[in-house]
Amino acid sequence: MLKELFRIKPVEPAGHIDAGEPFEGSLEGEATLKRTLSARQLVLLGIGAVIGAGIFVLSGHAAADHAGPAVIISYIIAAIACALAALCYAEFAAMLPVSGSAYSYAYSTLGECVAWFIGWNLVLEYLFASTSVAVGWSGYVVSFLNAQGLSIPASLAAAPFEVAGGVLKHTGGIINLPAVFIIAIIGSLCYVGITQTAFVNAIIVAIKITVIALFVAFSIRYVHPENWQPFIPERVIDSAGQGHYGIEGIIRGAAVVFFSYIGFDAVSTSAGEAKNPQRDMPIGILGSLAICTVIYIAVSIVLTGLMPYYQLNTPQPVATALEIYPSLSKLKIVVEIGAIAGLSSVILVMSMALPRIFYTMSRDGLIPKVFGKVHPRFHTPHIGTLISCTVAATLAGLLPIGLLGELVSMGTLLAFAGVCLGVLVLRYTRKDLKRPFRVPGVVFVAPFGTAICLFLFWQPFKQHWHLMIGWTLLGLLIYFGYGYRHSKLRAKQP
Ligand code: ALA
Repeated sequence: MLKELFRIKPVEPAGHIDAGEPFEGSLEGEATLKRTLSARQLVLLGIGAVIGAGIFVLSGHAAADHAGPAVIISYIIAAIACALAALCYAEFAAMLPVSGSAYSYAYSTLGECVAWFIGWNLVLEYLFASTSVAVGWSGYVVSFLNAQGLSIPASLAAAPFEVAGGVLKHTGGIINLPAVFIIAIIGSLCYVGITQTAFVNAIIVAIKITVIALFVAFSIRYVHPENWQPFIPERVIDSAGQGHYGIEGIIRGAAVVFFSYIGFDAVSTSAGEAKNPQRDMPIGILGSLAICTVIYIAVSIVLTGLMPYYQLNTPQPVATALEIYPSLSKLKIVVEIGAIAGLSSVILVMSMALPRIFYTMSRDGLIPKVFGKVHPRFHTPHIGTLISCTVAATLAGLLPIGLLGELVSMGTLLAFAGVCLGVLVLRYTRKDLKRPFRVPGVVFVAPFGTAICLFLFWQPFKQHWHLMIGWTLLGLLIYFGYGYRHSKLRAKQP
């Protein structure tokens, strides 16, 4: 039994792949995903997935509650963890250009049940990232419309339930309609085609990068260096026994802002649709992460310089920081539009990534075949897209999701740790494989990457372990109820 749980999917050395070639393992005449994405589109997909709620919503909370102005260091720590993981992703994605991302990498290195566990965490990442960002999007849109004198009834912009003091309570809301609306629109786009998805994403990314550049350029003159003092506020313990600020606060802040970087890994789920994945995957993954890191550090420096950190704990900290400067009121409106655009592209890329994970798991027999179906005309995993967007829209419309940001980060950090470990394992077990991109200094990068990801994982896990354990148990139930018995690898290796 133990041997079966850890069976490894053999990796074949891949030849050169080009635009128009069919997708891995496809049969003659079968509809497959379409290879159309260029290196530039991959970088834009990465930026589209990364810049969103993390900077526009969570940055203020991380500064006000955890790190103070030293949230800048929190952003740097989270960037180091992501850079190490991104290098490992880049090696894998160029070597195994398949759409299953970390799930597929783990299947070829650490065995089936670890792959399932990582795949299940990717489901957590993509499903709940799109859901929680859709709720953030709804908040931004409703407050923007309100400011323009157009109001949506409160009961139609709030989930009917919330968790207060550990108990599920009725909020007076009926449904969060804007959140359902944005997922439905984006889901339809993902259903119709990867080219259309990439095109719309490119437009949104152009808008949000322009807005961020305008924010930094115009507000930098209003920075008051005294707002950076004390740079690391003295550690305090609150009435619930939780520590804030100091070194501990910087680390806790890094775990919170880690959410901001999530998404560059989603680029690897489109490896099956890249024209030249062996060359372009590393460019897409590392390029998008590098650009976003520079942007985050610049924004966090300016943001904490505009306003005292303890006043930044609002749902729209970037707009809040501009509110106190009347001459920047127009910039505030531009920033709000940029945030709405930014959040939309995160939902877009996450909604694109999830069905592709399902697609690969289904082709391995670990989830039902229906998730592996490809639309004969659109060449998209249309049924998986329909199912995953329906679930996401339902969750976003009806359920309280305040806690989900940390849950998303925990799932992602476990997947990152698995990828770092996997890259090292494969260096020793399959020296023969062609590696178009090699992690430099892998003996240092891979273990350090694993350690820092697990360390950041541990920070929220201490508080929210019951949610994580619950999610894992649900995954194990599905694996032993379906995946274990239907695994194609099991049929091949009795
Ligand atoms: N990184 C994405 C965001 O910040 C998930 O919204």
